[in-house]
Amino acid sequence: MIKAGVVGWPIEQSKSPIIHNYWLDKYNINGSYKKISLSPENFKLGIKRLMNDGYAGLNITVPHKEMALEISSNPTERAKKIGAANTLIFKKGKIYADNTDGIGFLNNLTQLAPDWKADLGPAVVLGAGGASRSIVYSLLNEGAPKVILTNRTYERAKKLSNIFGEKVLVINWENINKHISGINTLVNTTTLGMVGSSNLEIDLSTLSSNTLVTDIVYNPLKTPLLEDANRIGCKTVDGLGMLLHQAVPGFKGWFGVEPKVDSALRDRVLLEL
Ligand code: ATR
Repeated sequence: MIKAGVVGWPIEQSKSPIIHNYWLDKYNINGSYKKISLSPENFKLGIKRLMNDGYAGLNITVPHKEMALEISSNPTERAKKIGAANTLIFKKGKIYADNTDGIGFLNNLTQLAPDWKADLGPAVVLGAGGASRSIVYSLLNEGAPKVILTNRTYERAKKLSNIFGEKVLVINWENINKHISGINTLVNTTTLGMVGSSNLEIDLSTLSSNTLVTDIVYNPLKTPLLEDANRIGCKTVDGLGMLLHQAVPGFKGWFGVEPKVDSALRDRVLLEL
C-alpha cells in the first residue's frame, strides 16, 4: 500500500484527505492519505520518521511550508522562488519539494474561465501572505505585464515585491479603488470575506466587465467580492478549485495517476465546508 498524508499544526481543519481519498477511490488505488499533526519542534524528526516508515510523500501546510523547503534536497525552481513548499515526494532517501499553490490557482482559472489569459493585462493582487506569493509568481510566469500589489501591512507587500522585481508595483491599501480600472485580473488572497471575517471594502464600479475576479476564500463559495463582481457583469471564479488543483501534482507523484478535478469532487468537498 502506498502511503501519503498532510502534515500541519493544527491539522484537524485540513480538507486534503477528502480530496485524495476521493481520488484513491475513483482510480481504485491501493493507497492511504492521512492527517498528521507535527509541532514545529518535532517537524524535522517527524518527517524523517515518516520517510523511514515508507511514506511516498506528504503535503505540508501551515506553519511548516518554509521549513519543508529548507529540509528538501531537491526543490523545484518555483518552490525556491516562492520560498515555501507544500508538496514533498520521497525517493531513494531524497526529498523532492514543490510548491503547487500557484499552478493550482492557474489551472482553476483555466478550467473555469478558459478565455482568461494572464498576459491580457495587469493584475491587482490583494494581500501579501504565503498564498499571494505563489499567485504573484504564477501571474508573472504566465506573462502578466504588471502586478499591482496591495496589503493592509504595506511593508509586507514591499518585501514581496522585492523578490519579483519591477513588474510588481506596490500601492497603499487605502488607494485600491484608484487602481482597478482597466485591469485584466483581480485576486483576493486575504482572509477578508471568509466566514467569521469582515468583508473586503472595495468599489468595483470602475472595473470593466472583461475583468476576471477571483477569490482564494472558498467558505463561503460566493464571497461578497464575487457577488459584487457578478452584479457588474465580470467573470468570476471561486477559490475552491485552487484547493483541488493544487493537490494534483502530489497525487500524481505518490500514486502514479494524474487525477481529474471534476464536479463530483467539488460537491464532495463542499459537503464538508
Ligand atoms: P496565506 O498564507 O493564506 O496567504 P497569511 O500569510 O496569514 O495567509 O496572509 C493573510 C493575508 O490576509 C495577509 O495579506 C493579511 O494582511 P497583513 O499582512 O496586513 O496581516 C490579510 N488580512 C488578514 N486580515 C485582514 C484584515 N482584517 N484586513 C486586511 N487584510 C487582512
